[in-house]
Amino acid sequence: MPLVAPSILAADFSKLGEEVRMVSEAGADYIHVDVMDGFFVPNITIGPSMVKSLRKHSKLPFISHLMITHPERHVEAFADAGSDIIEVHVEAEQNISETLRMIRGLGKKAGLAVNPPTPIEKAFPFLREMDLLLIMSVNPGFGGQKFIEDVLPKIGQAKEEMRRIGVSVPVEIDGGITTETGELAARAGADILAAGTSVFKAPDMKKAIAALRACGGSKG
Ligand code: DX5
Ligand code: ZN
Repeated sequence: MPLVAPSILAADFSKLGEEVRMVSEAGADYIHVDVMDGFFVPNITIGPSMVKSLRKHSKLPFISHLMITHPERHVEAFADAGSDIIEVHVEAEQNISETLRMIRGLGKKAGLAVNPPTPIEKAFPFLREMDLLLIMSVNPGFGGQKFIEDVLPKIGQAKEEMRRIGVSVPVEIDGGITTETGELAARAGADILAAGTSVFKAPDMKKAIAALRACGGSKG
């Protein structure tokens, strides 16, 4: 059954600390933090100082999803701020191997993210250098978008390549995740569901998280 990573992008920014505490108590497995620079994506969100202040509101591992150009210039700041997993994009301007190594060198887990139009094969050369593969199911920049079903086969393709080369990297899927789309993603093999709207805008966060974790339950 998949783990659940609520994305605080959909939380109330005027009381983020409280929201992080609430979602942690509601049974989340990770806190997913969407970092946007207004350049790699059209939106601007959170920086390392915010991660540092939020850190004390939860014991859960923090995933910093960096949707920024030149992530290598900022990974140290996000590591120091208390991120446990730092994800960078395969499409961002950087030396990917070097950035992933840098993240691991800081004692953190390194993730690599792939946008919907990007072929999954672009991530394959780095499978041994990452601790998490993030498959985007919306074009990054905004929460509340519609899940792009076309990305689903990427999960199986990535898992097949992992088997072929003898590695096992958990796959996170991010964007437009509801119990319906989460079901599809979990059945396709996703290990972690990142979900903003369907958790934070739910009438009952605890139920919403439990429902997501039950996705793909019949896959055995
Ligand atoms: C998209 C972000 C996602 C997104 C998830 O740019 O990376 O994490 O906010 O939010 P929902 O679940 O609302 O699509
Ligand atoms: Zn994200």
